[in-house]
Amino acid sequence: MADNNPFPGENNTGHIWDDDLRELSNPPPRWWTILWWVSLAWCVVYGVLYPMIPFVTDSSKGILNWTQIGEYKEGLAEVEKIREKYESRISTMSAKEILADAELSNYISHGDGAGAGKVLFGDNCSACHGSAGQGMSNFPVLADDDWIWGGGVEKIVETITNGRGPKAVVPSPGMPAHGATLSTKEIGGLAKYVVGLSEGKDDPNGKKMFMEKGCVGCHGMDGKGMAVLGSVNLTDAIWRFDAADRLSSAAYTIQHGVNQMANPKSREAEMPTFGGRLSADEIKKLAVYVYKFGGGN
Ligand code: HEC
Ligand code: HEC
Repeated sequence: MADNNPFPGENNTGHIWDDDLRELSNPPPRWWTILWWVSLAWCVVYGVLYPMIPFVTDSSKGILNWTQIGEYKEGLAEVEKIREKYESRISTMSAKEILADAELSNYISHGDGAGAGKVLFGDNCSACHGSAGQGMSNFPVLADDDWIWGGGVEKIVETITNGRGPKAVVPSPGMPAHGATLSTKEIGGLAKYVVGLSEGKDDPNGKKMFMEKGCVGCHGMDGKGMAVLGSVNLTDAIWRFDAADRLSSAAYTIQHGVNQMANPKSREAEMPTFGGRLSADEIKKLAVYVYKFGGGN
C-alpha cells in the first residue's frame, strides 16, 4: 500500500477517499493523555483509600476504613449527643418542672426526632384524639380547656399512665344506665334540662328532677361535674358524645349510661393505660405536649 501512497512522507494510514481525504495516524492530544493518566491514578488512589473491589461476601476495605453505615452512625451519635443534653434532664424532672423550663418544653413540642412529642403523639394517641388533639366523635378534644379528668400537667400524666374507664389502674364507675328506672318522659325531660344548662338556662322543674333522680350525686348541684369521677361538665357548650344532636345524645346517654360493661348499648369512654407501654419519660413528654395544645390549666 505504501508503494502507491500519493502522499508519501505523511503519517497517513493509506486510507484515502475522494482523491485527497486521508485518515492520519497522529498520537492523541497531550492534554487528553494527561487526563487519562490522572484518572487512572485517581482510581488507584481511591481503591487504596476506600472500599472498592467486591469479593463474594465482602469487599476490599481501603486504608481509611470508611463505610457508609459508619458515617451514618457517626451522624447519629452527634444527634444523640445533642439530645442527650435534654433527655438526661427530662429523666430527673417532673412534668411540671419540664413545662416550666422553656428550653425543654420547646425541645418536646418543636423537635421532630424519634423522642419528640409530635412523634410520640402521632404513634400512640392521634388514632383516637386526632393529629392535633382536635378529638373526634366519642373521643374527647385535648386541645380545648374543657377537661373531664383535669387539665393540670400532672393530672394529664396520671391519665396517660393509669388510663381512665373500667379497665384503668384505678377503675372509674362511669355513669349508670337509667333506662330501667326512669320513664321515657323523664329521660326526655332530663335531657332537655341538661341541654338547657349548656345553653345557659336553668329550668327549676328540670333542676328538681335532676336532684331527685340522683344526677347531682355525680354531676354536682350546678351540673359542672367532678374531675375525680370524670363526670363531665354539663353546663358548657362542649358535648362529649354525638355533639350534632344534643337532645337525643343526652337522652341516649341517660338511658344507656357510660361504660356499663353489662350493657352493650352503653356508651364507651375508655382511655387506655399507657403505664407499662411507654416509659415514664415518654409519658412526661406527652403530657407536656398535650398541655401545650393550649388547653392546659
Ligand atoms: C383507643 C383510643 C384512645 C387512645 C389510643 C388514646 N386515648 Fe386518650 N382518651 C380516650 C378516651 C375515650 C378518653 C375519654 C375518657 C373518659 O371519657 O373518661 C380519653 C381521655 C384522655 C385524656 C383526658 C381528657 C380529659 O378531658 O380529661 C387525656 C389527657 C388523653 N386521653 C390523652 C391521651 C394521650 C396522650 C394518648 C396517647 C398516649 C391517648 N390519650 C391515647 C381514648 C384514647
Ligand atoms: C355515678 C355517677 C353518675 C350519675 C349518677 C349520673 N351521671 Fe351522667 N355522667 C357520669 C359520667 C362519669 C359521665 C361522663 C363519662 C365520660 O365522658 O367519660 C356522664 C356523662 C353524662 C352526659 C353526657 C355529657 C356529654 O358531654 O355528652 C349526660 C348528658 C349526663 N351524664 C347526664 C346525666 C343525668 C341527667 C343524670 C341523672 C339521671 C346523670 N347523668 C347521672 C356520671 C354520672
